[in-house]
Amino acid sequence: MPSFKTIDDLGDITGKRVLVRVDLNVPVKDGRVTDATRIERVAPTIGELADKGAKVILLAHFGRPKGGPEAEFSLGIVQPSVEAVLDRPVYFADDCIGQAAAQAVADLKDGGILMLENTRFHKGEEKNDPEFVKALAANGDLYVNDAFSAAHRAHASTEGLAHLLPAYAGRTMQAELEALEKGLGNPSRPVVAIVGGAKVSSKIDLLQNLVRKVDALVIGGGMANTFLAAQGIDVGKSLCEHDLAETARAIMAEAKSAGCAIVLPVDGVIAREFKAGAASETVAINAIPADAMVLDVGPQSVKTVNDWIATAETLVWNGPLGAFEIAPFDAATVAVARFAAEETRAGKLVSVAGGGDTVSALNHADVADDFSYVSTAGGAFLEWMEGKPLPGVEVLKAVK
Ligand code: 3PG
Repeated sequence: MPSFKTIDDLGDITGKRVLVRVDLNVPVKDGRVTDATRIERVAPTIGELADKGAKVILLAHFGRPKGGPEAEFSLGIVQPSVEAVLDRPVYFADDCIGQAAAQAVADLKDGGILMLENTRFHKGEEKNDPEFVKALAANGDLYVNDAFSAAHRAHASTEGLAHLLPAYAGRTMQAELEALEKGLGNPSRPVVAIVGGAKVSSKIDLLQNLVRKVDALVIGGGMANTFLAAQGIDVGKSLCEHDLAETARAIMAEAKSAGCAIVLPVDGVIAREFKAGAASETVAINAIPADAMVLDVGPQSVKTVNDWIATAETLVWNGPLGAFEIAPFDAATVAVARFAAEETRAGKLVSVAGGGDTVSALNHADVADDFSYVSTAGGAFLEWMEGKPLPGVEVLKAVK
């Protein structure tokens, strides 16, 4: 049972004004949305509330404007895509508070959908200013938060509103929280985590938290080089944060005392140039030539990682194992992703993945749909993996 209220607890909402916080922070190029995944994720909540006869009022941020209107961050750019995904009319008001918003809400029919302009066009949003929260709340009777990916922000529309209006988790928020609970909150053991990506420096808190929670931590990507170098291995010209050797050693020591196995590559795919199709070869990890760089983990390492996954009941994954954007350095990420997908399909593994590059990598391997849950959250997923409380989630749990 979730410790927060969901749409199932709303009761009769016919004619009720429901403020729904969604994440419409989608990629846009030349004025067009290039990836509608986040819109697709919140569509079920919007549709369900509208079908139940509510007046659905969407609140969202878009980009990082400086606290005032900026044309390039207008949600008007995203509105046609929301309409297309929902396949219903979505009205638009060019402010999220004040007269423009109040009039548009008053004009909205039961079951209608209205999108309000970017909440970050007001400084009060990011400051969680009580006056701004009040102005937002004036347009709603109820509040539904379906924006897990913005839940690491204690902003007016993600946190403040839950103090003023009866607050509920939307379907995406609910699914995300249930999946994350299975991933690290209360997982079936053994739990294996895979952490990849370029730099240790951006993931220190995350690594420190994981070694206390998981049974094995696989480290791949550029950050593996920092750990290898900290153990005295010459990584040649590979990406490596030599100044973090001490941090890497401390994480390894913490893992040891917590009983968490650290799984580092035993072989690597090296090249002398960082470009698609560059001449490459596989070498043992202690035989990296001085003029070469590791761009992917090698086949022996893939086998080791997959052996760990085969013994695991739960997998949590953030960050690719190699430079997956360019062939052939996508091989390890693709092979491990496909094996994890197979284990998941066979009912042997709960697999939870998240973070920008991870989603692209799983899409590249064509297995995103086979994982138990793939989060569209970036920063919020990382903070969750770091074990930090997310303000937008905490407040939903706190309100009764
Ligand atoms: C995201 O894209 O990760 C969320 O929408 C949060 O955006 P922000 O980092 O600008 O707060």
